[in-house]
Amino acid sequence: MSDSNASSLPHLPSSQSQAQAQGAWAPQPKSSESRTIIYRSDVMSQLMKMIERVAPSQANVLVLGESGTGKELLARALHEKSTRKNKPFVAINCGALRETLLESELFGHEKGSFTGAYSRKIGLAEAANGGTLFLDEIGELPLSIQAKLLRFIQEGEIFRVGGKDSIKVDIRLVCATNRELDQEVVRGAFREDLFYRINTIVVSAPPLRRRKEDIAILVNHFLNTGSPTFLNRGKTIDEEAMAILTKYEWPGNIRELQNVCERLQILSEGHMIMINDLPDSIRNPEVKDEGLDFDPLIPLYELEKRYILKALGHYGGNKTQAAQGLGITIKTLYNKLHEYGEFEKYAVHSKPVKD
Ligand SMILES: Nc1ncnc2c1ncn2[C@@H]1O[C@H](COP(=O)(O)OP(=O)(O)OP(=O)(O)O)[C@@H](O)[C@H]1O
Ligand SMILES: [Mg+2]
Repeated sequence: MSDSNASSLPHLPSSQSQAQAQGAWAPQPKSSESRTIIYRSDVMSQLMKMIERVAPSQANVLVLGESGTGKELLARALHEKSTRKNKPFVAINCGALRETLLESELFGHEKGSFTGAYSRKIGLAEAANGGTLFLDEIGELPLSIQAKLLRFIQEGEIFRVGGKDSIKVDIRLVCATNRELDQEVVRGAFREDLFYRINTIVVSAPPLRRRKEDIAILVNHFLNTGSPTFLNRGKTIDEEAMAILTKYEWPGNIRELQNVCERLQILSEGHMIMINDLPDSIRNPEVKDEGLDFDPLIPLYELEKRYILKALGHYGGNKTQAAQGLGITIKTLYNKLHEYGEFEKYAVHSKPVKD
């Protein structure tokens, strides 16, 4: 992004002058965590222009992208640039909670509605009233709650668990997923009607390997931010070392880059980071030939099934390890096994195996 473009972006806090000079947008930070979106690539400039256009509307937005690409940051940007910015931004990870807990977390519950419901609880949807509700990992939402969410989107009302009266709630919904939701619809794991309600506008966060122009500016940003307690901020990086960081493919995207920079801030000896300071995995990344050619006879669903069963075999049937290795939640793994009719086979507990 050019400087002239950058300076036309609104809401740039003066403390972000370095970022501003190179193209960045930041909402007013509410905590020590940086919410500045750093970019200079054309693809991100286009995306941020789209965010500018979409944010003031009331449209529900679906943010797609691989893990660590900045989906939550974009969701927050949508909120901060909307007319709802002075109201709450409430985030919930739909994959993190069991079905019953998730429902009460989202919609609240009345006292005595289930064992342990000792008092009335206001759900996150209600708490977000007037603001934005961010449903992260929406692909993990159980079907029963999908039905309730759909009802809420259509009617603008919720029922607390065990509650008889409907409660009007006005929220803007932003959802995110790193899964192919349309495929989930085809498989019957995600309701089609809900899919069309949440994806009025789709925003795709590109993986870092598709916007390598952003790497240098991100590295400089991360080396200049972070916890002041270590007094390691403001490190610089040697040109050759930067070239290696730029060449690397960053499968974990910006989150991985941020972690590496944090480590470099703490562990590198001098003020300037040199090639030798870089982790070996980045200097000599494994070049993997997946040996995977497209075969029109194998649908994606079948390939996924084979891959999942292979992972289970690799980990001696240990589902926790397999889910970790596959980068999915244990709940998703269970769901998949049920779908494949393989659940019984793997229902027996097995001990973790060494990787
Ligand atoms: N463009 C950016 N500029 C600065 N920091 C960024 C940028 N994009 C992402 N980050 C930082 O990278 C980290 C990962 O971002 P975020 O949590 O938004 O990604 P995500 O797509 O939601 O990841 P996941 O799928 O793992 O939940 C965060 O610490 C975030 O602040
Ligand atoms: Mg996230």
